[in-house]
Amino acid sequence: MIVDVHAHLTDEQFDADRSEIAEGLKQNGVKWIITNGYDRKSCFLAVILAGWYKNIYAAVGMHPESAGDYDAVFEDNLKEYCANEKVLAIGEIGLDYHYDTNPPRKTQRETFVKQLILAEKLDKPVIVHSRDAAQDTFDILRDNMPSRGAVLHSFSQSEEMTKRYLELNVMFSFSGVVTFKNASNVKLSAGLIPPERILTETDCPYMAPEPFRGKRCCPAYAANTAAVLSEIKGIDYAEFCELTVANAERFFKVIPKEEKKKKGGRFWGV
Ligand code: NI
Repeated sequence: MIVDVHAHLTDEQFDADRSEIAEGLKQNGVKWIITNGYDRKSCFLAVILAGWYKNIYAAVGMHPESAGDYDAVFEDNLKEYCANEKVLAIGEIGLDYHYDTNPPRKTQRETFVKQLILAEKLDKPVIVHSRDAAQDTFDILRDNMPSRGAVLHSFSQSEEMTKRYLELNVMFSFSGVVTFKNASNVKLSAGLIPPERILTETDCPYMAPEPFRGKRCCPAYAANTAAVLSEIKGIDYAEFCELTVANAERFFKVIPKEEKKKKGGRFWGV
């Protein structure tokens, strides 16, 4: 079994078969997933989905591409969402300097910092998107790291940045990008990271790993990414999957069902 800590099951590309995918997760070797919100609507829907399916969790936050939409009302929404125990993190949040049409960099930085401060207040970790903004992302995270830490989603940074990030309280989450033939730099970076700090994700419906590159991605494809990572780390595939599931459950404090029952908690576990 594997986990997918970064899916977007609310995306319209799943409109035709969302329930099929959600119900089929276990049969397809996926123990649980986190569906990540990125704007008002997707955050709302992510929380709904997490309520419907016991092996779907949610993360909620304003993506940098919508950074200008962050306001007091949305921040109140985030607080309400985070009171739900199926909401595991604030995300995805971060910086994206790739397109000139994205919100101004200053707005992105302000929205990112606000959500990092909120994560600290709500005792949640964060899930971070960073594109063409490596230095600013690093600086902001270093100065505003929530106690619960951060996940660097679809990690694809240089070896030099990887070494610097290893000093911070972060987990490194790999998507299908690490399986691409032209991603030797990402493979080198992965080689530097201790296995206890590696997570698996898909970023579905995007970033399908080889051999599905270019097709619609889905959570089960995290297995293809895990296979490549296990080779890079020289760890047996099954052992690697077990390890990354344990990493994710420890980091996000996902408590297995049996333990919850013993504590008399609500039935929400996996
Ligand atoms: Ni994403």
